[in-house]
Amino acid sequence: MNNENILEVKDLHVDIHMTEGLLTAVRGVNFEMKKGETLGLVGESGCGKSLTCKAILGINDKKCAPSGQIMFDSEELGEVDLLSLDQKGKEIRSIRGKEISMIFQEPMVAFSPMYTIGNQINEATRLHITKDKKKSKEISMDVMRKVGIANVEKRYNQYPHEFSGGMLQRALIAMALVCNPKMLIADEPTTALDVTIQAQILELMKELQKDFNMAILFITHDLGVVAKMCDRVAVMYLGKIVESADATEIYANPQHPYTRGLIGSVHKIGSKKEERLFSIEGTVPLAMNLPKACGFYDRCDARIEGLCNKAEPELVEIAPGHKIACFNCPHEACKAQRAKVEASLAAPAPAESASATTAPAKAIPKKKEAGKK
Ligand SMILES: Nc1ncnc2c1ncn2[C@@H]1O[C@H](COP(=O)(O)OP(=O)(O)OP(=O)(O)O)[C@@H](O)[C@H]1O
Ligand code: SF4
Ligand SMILES: [Mg+2]
Repeated sequence: MNNENILEVKDLHVDIHMTEGLLTAVRGVNFEMKKGETLGLVGESGCGKSLTCKAILGINDKKCAPSGQIMFDSEELGEVDLLSLDQKGKEIRSIRGKEISMIFQEPMVAFSPMYTIGNQINEATRLHITKDKKKSKEISMDVMRKVGIANVEKRYNQYPHEFSGGMLQRALIAMALVCNPKMLIADEPTTALDVTIQAQILELMKELQKDFNMAILFITHDLGVVAKMCDRVAVMYLGKIVESADATEIYANPQHPYTRGLIGSVHKIGSKKEERLFSIEGTVPLAMNLPKACGFYDRCDARIEGLCNKAEPELVEIAPGHKIACFNCPHEACKAQRAKVEASLAAPAPAESASATTAPAKAIPKKKEAGKK
């Protein structure tokens, strides 16, 4: 692993065995995270963001089969491939919740209604930090104060239903941070909140990131949020990363047609009220029996027939730290990839060459048109 990195995801696939067939929900995802940085993973609903996060923590459903490599720089285990660990074993449990924590989209689902908030935050403290009841309570209360929960002595003994949505999200952040993790996965942490509370929670997360010096993998479909929060951005579509770059670069210079569509759909400060927001037509297809083609082909206004519907582009670097997977891009690396793929499409496949050139004429006799003899 590179010394600067805390996480390296290599060729991650998540297949889901359904009764209808195999869903290839994550199809070869590669990314790295530096220590202390915030990486935004962005994309529409269903493109595989949550499955990618869950694979890192080893909490995918039973029917999901993740494969590839997820290298993590662990204090406890050194450099370790998280996917190679027994997903129910002691080793991954020593990392999950302690070195890597996760904040989920719905705090109401993340907390059990049966136990007090303090009790639930304390569970992680007792498991990973100290068995001493008094000390662990102090640590838990301290982190509750850090995330801006007032009157902690009373709040500690309250149940989730006694908290407002914003306060509950703060409690969830407290639970995620209580063990001082090196990495936090935040899966749509503010989607369920109204805009004012959302802004407060985002601000809080930024402050805490500095205090705790942790890396954050920030999942969202909202590019506006990414602009506020992230150092780098990876744009995901149909189970693959199609563009990644520094956040400022991706906003100033988006290259992939999908990224351009996403950015066009964000309301910009200063734009006129009557200006309509751009929207990408169509929806993300289901990742089942996918043809060998660019996943964005049906929705792309820059598609090249005979190329984009015959092969799938790989991610190539077009400038330092800026990668894109698209055939129709003017950069040298993309042009080189396009030329290579066009050449291979033009060349007859060795096994089929004989039949491809001669067979069709013979094998498919023209049907007689009705009425003609
Ligand atoms: N346990 C599961 N069983 C069946 N299909 C699943 C399961 N989990 C995810 N999927 C499917 O895999 C695809 C990717 O799901 P994922 O939850 O990763 O999407 P996402 O990008 O997080 O979307 P969202 O923004 O809606 O949260 C979707 O088509 C989803 O329906
Ligand atoms: S490869 Fe083709 S279809 Fe895919 S995004 Fe680029 S231009 Fe569009
Ligand atoms: Mg999700």
